[in-house]
Amino acid sequence: MATFAYSSDAPAKVRAGVLVLPVFEGPVPGPGVKEVGLERAYRDAKLTGKPNENLLVVRRDGDRFAAGAVLLVGVGDKPAFTPTTMRRALGRVAGSLGRFGTAATTFPQAVGARDLAAAAQATVEGIVLGGYRFDRYKTAKAGPSLTRVIVLGSARANAKVAREAIRHGRIVAEAVCWARDLVNTPAGDMPPAQIAREALKMARQVGLRCKVWGKPELEKGGFGGILGVGAGSVNPPRLIELSYTGAGKETPIALTGKGIAFDSGGLSIKDAKGMESMKDDMGGAASIMATMKAIAQLKPKVNVIAAIPSSENMPSGSATKPGDVLRHRGGKTSEVLNTDAEGRLVLADALAYLAEKEPKVIIDTATLTGACMVALGDQVAGAMGNDDALFRDIAAAGEAVGETIWQLPLFADYRRLIESNIADVKNIGERYGGAITAAWFLAEFVGDTPWIHLDIAGPAFSEKGNDLGPKGGTGVPVRTLVRYVLDKSA
Ligand code: BES
Ligand code: MN
Ligand code: ZN
Repeated sequence: MATFAYSSDAPAKVRAGVLVLPVFEGPVPGPGVKEVGLERAYRDAKLTGKPNENLLVVRRDGDRFAAGAVLLVGVGDKPAFTPTTMRRALGRVAGSLGRFGTAATTFPQAVGARDLAAAAQATVEGIVLGGYRFDRYKTAKAGPSLTRVIVLGSARANAKVAREAIRHGRIVAEAVCWARDLVNTPAGDMPPAQIAREALKMARQVGLRCKVWGKPELEKGGFGGILGVGAGSVNPPRLIELSYTGAGKETPIALTGKGIAFDSGGLSIKDAKGMESMKDDMGGAASIMATMKAIAQLKPKVNVIAAIPSSENMPSGSATKPGDVLRHRGGKTSEVLNTDAEGRLVLADALAYLAEKEPKVIIDTATLTGACMVALGDQVAGAMGNDDALFRDIAAAGEAVGETIWQLPLFADYRRLIESNIADVKNIGERYGGAITAAWFLAEFVGDTPWIHLDIAGPAFSEKGNDLGPKGGTGVPVRTLVRYVLDKSA
């Protein structure tokens, strides 16, 4: 990843491969545009500052700037310009900056001084996330990427605040990219044991405690959901425990994420199309691991524990069969009528285990239901839970970082849809309301603990790519969760 520096140099004087300047719609362009003498050129190109109206000007003799080139980026209306629109505007152009080697930008100067920290952070995140590539399996590697980025502040700006925000942005963006790498790596190379090794390696690097439960320990501990889902696979399951201590003996925040290394559906097997993207079914797990990584580096005064279940859902002679009953951690039982509703089965164990620790809150995130995708599309995460204050906190964190989270009702009447004849609950409801019945299943295992469930089946994976990255794993909702944890430490 590129290194980031802060400077209050004049835009026209800064030495960089490319200088990236925002242009607003309306009469006043954006910081630096006049100084480098390119206001006319932009207008002459019949551009008005709308998002995506970009102009690249390569330096020629007599030009009034020292950079090798200037990229003028249309960013729309000034009043609507926020850290979120800034992150996205930079994300859209970031992929084209690598060939210049180094970049400088005045983007953070385009919002009020009050928002300096959020703007500087969003600048870094936009450049890193938008420039993300996954070329581990390409023999012809992608072109060069940026080696250095200079964030230009105004002379009046508080350099210390800006530098801290840049560091923060780098840590968060790097964690998001790591989550993407984990998701994008094919399931053949990322079985549960490998996910656990990645967690152990990360924990060693950043100084987290990490304990991995293998099959014998899971059996002893009564984790029948994790074992039942993994029963058909030659790749045995794991439970990954991570803990961060930043506040002594205080009650922790608890996190978990669905870590299905590959979801074939099991004996209730999916069709070919339905399986194509199912290496991403550990996106929840990856996002929790990445959140823990960022927290370990940002060191807030708060305690956080995570317990991440990982199984591979495969059909075989040893697989769990429709009609089988599993006994979860803590003793509750579930009737498995569809082995493709497996995420809730592994999460049940993790939620019960975390609830035993009496945390302040439990947050889970999972690529749980196609129904949630149908309801909210691929850019919005569905939220359900038992605590309004927790929902408001999470929604506010999501809003602040530009990850949209929408509440679906944990409608009381639908609880009976998961009543089972022979066990405590069954793992499917009816066809309609599938995101809600899935949440009702999870609710069974959290007891009275304030809890929120984020269904990220849509936003965890981008089919076409978006402003903040190419197609593939997105790393949602790492940025929201990091924001939430930091908000709670304040
Ligand atoms: N991992 C899938 C959900 C999913 C589907 C995520 C498509 C992303 C894209 C989950 O395990 C699943 O198969 N859910 C079933 C549940 C059903 C059998 C009750 C679904 O949504 O169809
Ligand atoms: Mn499934
Ligand atoms: Zn699944």
